Amino acid sequence: MYRSRVSGIGSYLPEKILSNKDLEKMVETNDQWIVERTGIERRHIASEDQATSDLCVIAAKRALEDANLKVEDIDMILVGTVTGDHQMPSTACFVQAKLGAKNIMAVDLNAACSGFLYGVSIADQFIRTGMYKNILVIGAEVLSRYMNYKDRETCILFGDGAGAWVMSRAAEGQTNVIESSHLRADGTLADLLILPAGGSKIPQSHEAIDKGLNFMTMKGRDIFKNAVRTMASCCQEALEHNKVAPEQVDWIVPHQANKRIIEAVADQFKFPMERVIVYLQETGNTSAASIPLAFDWAVKNGKIKRGQTILLTAFGAGLTSGSILLRY
Ligand code: ACO
Repeated sequence: MYRSRVSGIGSYLPEKILSNKDLEKMVETNDQWIVERTGIERRHIASEDQATSDLCVIAAKRALEDANLKVEDIDMILVGTVTGDHQMPSTACFVQAKLGAKNIMAVDLNAACSGFLYGVSIADQFIRTGMYKNILVIGAEVLSRYMNYKDRETCILFGDGAGAWVMSRAAEGQTNVIESSHLRADGTLADLLILPAGGSKIPQSHEAIDKGLNFMTMKGRDIFKNAVRTMASCCQEALEHNKVAPEQVDWIVPHQANKRIIEAVADQFKFPMERVIVYLQETGNTSAASIPLAFDWAVKNGKIKRGQTILLTAFGAGLTSGSILLRY
């Protein structure tokens, strides 16, 4: 059986910044509340002419360059997103066309903030079986289009961005590989975070818009509790499965939703925050893009290095959750 490795990484944040001070002018909030409760200082917002696939393409080209591969080398494109360009067709198809990739499979994954980990796990399986050699996995969101900038409980949290990995078949004996992935979903908690209108249950209509059903709604405290519970449990599963003690992990790269959620998960393993990647001060919660964005930033800033043991973990609407143990 083959193994998969991360052969290239890239990310992209739109230029426009929405700071906490900017939000103070839009809703009744303040910089101190946002920083103390979430850790977020600013988030990046896509320009009017940028759709999710445009963000994907920039991140993907950077990852391909890092992998020293051409677009012709790619066998499959997976895009984790809940904010695709259109309801149909998939954003992955637009990415395929814009990159000029030919005769390959391209598909979207809707697992919200866990979408990137779901994508990496699926790519890993396709490589393990020997079916494909190089797979582009992207997590990308333009969440700003679904925000109600009159709702202070949600609009302060989210931002736009994209991150991409090229996953490749590892050469014989190569150690920097995906060790294992542990993914879950609990649809009984679906109503905790939902974008109600626009699907078959509540089609887009003037009435739905008047009721604000085209915006994301959230039960923040319940998500907080479940996020800590599920991420800690998925991390525990990854550690036990690989017989790795918390002190043997070099870095945890968690979904970047809220600094207090991240601290609570780290605390469960007595894991020092100095070895946890926190990048949400710059990005806010970018859902499926958050882990590859944070990972790329941590590599470029000399934190994560080749050969290290990395634990990735996420939770998101669904509720979905997961962890991946990676020897980078
Ligand atoms: N500015 C100022 N005050 C605010 C704001 C704001 N932006 N938002 C809420 N408040 C007020 C509330 O109205 C409340 O006031 P009250 O005490 O008078 O009733 C008070 O602050 C405390 O509100 P809480 O909701 O208890 O605040 P909490 O400490 O729980 O923090 C938060 C709220 C940040 C939303 C937190 O619950 C959280 O991060 N939850 C997880 C959210 C999350 O991660 N969502 C993404 C899921 S991932 C995905 O799939 C996209």
